[in-house]
Amino acid sequence: MTATVFPLEKFQNLATPFYYYDTALLDQTLRTINEQTAPYPTFQVHYAVKACTNPKVLSHIVSAGLGADCVSGGEIQACLEAGFPARKIVFAGVGKADWEIRLALEAGIGCFNVESVPELEVINELAERQDTEARVCFRINPDVGAHTHSNITTGLAENKFGIAMEDMERVIALAHSMSHIHFSGLHFHIGSQILEMDDFAALCLRINELQDRLEAQGIGPVEHINVGGGLGIDYADPDAHPVPDFKPYFQTYARHLKLRPGQQLHFELGRAIVGQCGSLITRCLYVKEGSRKRFAIVDAGMTELIRPALYHALHRIQNLSSQGHHMNYDVVGPICESSDVFATEYALPETQRGNLLAIRSAGAYGETMASQYNSRRLPDSYTTEDLS
Ligand code: LLP
Repeated sequence: MTATVFPLEKFQNLATPFYYYDTALLDQTLRTINEQTAPYPTFQVHYAVKACTNPKVLSHIVSAGLGADCVSGGEIQACLEAGFPARKIVFAGVGKADWEIRLALEAGIGCFNVESVPELEVINELAERQDTEARVCFRINPDVGAHTHSNITTGLAENKFGIAMEDMERVIALAHSMSHIHFSGLHFHIGSQILEMDDFAALCLRINELQDRLEAQGIGPVEHINVGGGLGIDYADPDAHPVPDFKPYFQTYARHLKLRPGQQLHFELGRAIVGQCGSLITRCLYVKEGSRKRFAIVDAGMTELIRPALYHALHRIQNLSSQGHHMNYDVVGPICESSDVFATEYALPETQRGNLLAIRSAGAYGETMASQYNSRRLPDSYTTEDLS
């Protein structure tokens, strides 16, 4: 597997901070997904677009033949522009606005992942007005915990997502009674950055239980099951695992999930597809010797990459310009917030003003979560081909 090699010479003349996407690594990741799912013809992988909507990144994902999982009208537009076939787009989210539903219906997307009865009623009404039929599946809250950060678990009963298991039969009956709704599947998602395959196995058992229960009442089998995303990446050592371990992930579903004949299995992976191919490239502005700390003040901040400030997430930092002996730094940004810190007591080769640093594993939920706080400019982005 190829670890990212940074074109430092090319970086020198570029204004920082910017995102750099190693598209050779992205392609390798996509090839691995296609190879690992080849033995299972009923598996269909969608890319969770929220992780990174950069058009240059999307075009590689379209070429690999993946579908798209969108959570807003803006994401649907971005996917249509990037060339995803409308039928391969699914639209999720607890609060879909009317204009977003209309846009999705006009485009003829593959499926709405519906999260409540009032939403189902609005989709039926808007589909009727457009004289079309909406394919829907229900997002079910499986009440399965995942071993990850509390801000990014989604499958517990107390989360705002999905419809409770016990309401399923009633809601499915309602969908069948609606004139412009075609009920086609069940959707689940238990959280993000999950590295324990047992968590996904637990989800499979829950789905098996639910399918048995529904079938005992003459409901189903449904056309497809969507198990969401959530496979994590190695933030501590991205070069050791540039491509996530997709084999045990897909095998877990193949082994534990009792798919019915003809039933399709959909995945919605975000982080595992784009996380490792992206780095935030930043320049050291100043090294400040504090009374108790040494700060490397860089020109990127929480405005370009909010994950450390928001989730205490750790991203590997690499000084691309220095081979000096290692010293400890607090690597901080220029934003007027004390949480604008990328790492504390972090060992880096001796760092000086002007050095270029790469903040690694930032391809997912990096550029997409950037803001203009402090009236900053949104970051530029470059891919391997842009700089070759
Ligand atoms: N499907 C659904 C319904 C989701 O809510 C998500 C992510 C995914 C798929 C994709 O999950 P992934 O494969 O990327 O784990 N901003 C946070 C992550 C939020 C994830 C939200 N939902 C972070 O930076 O860690």
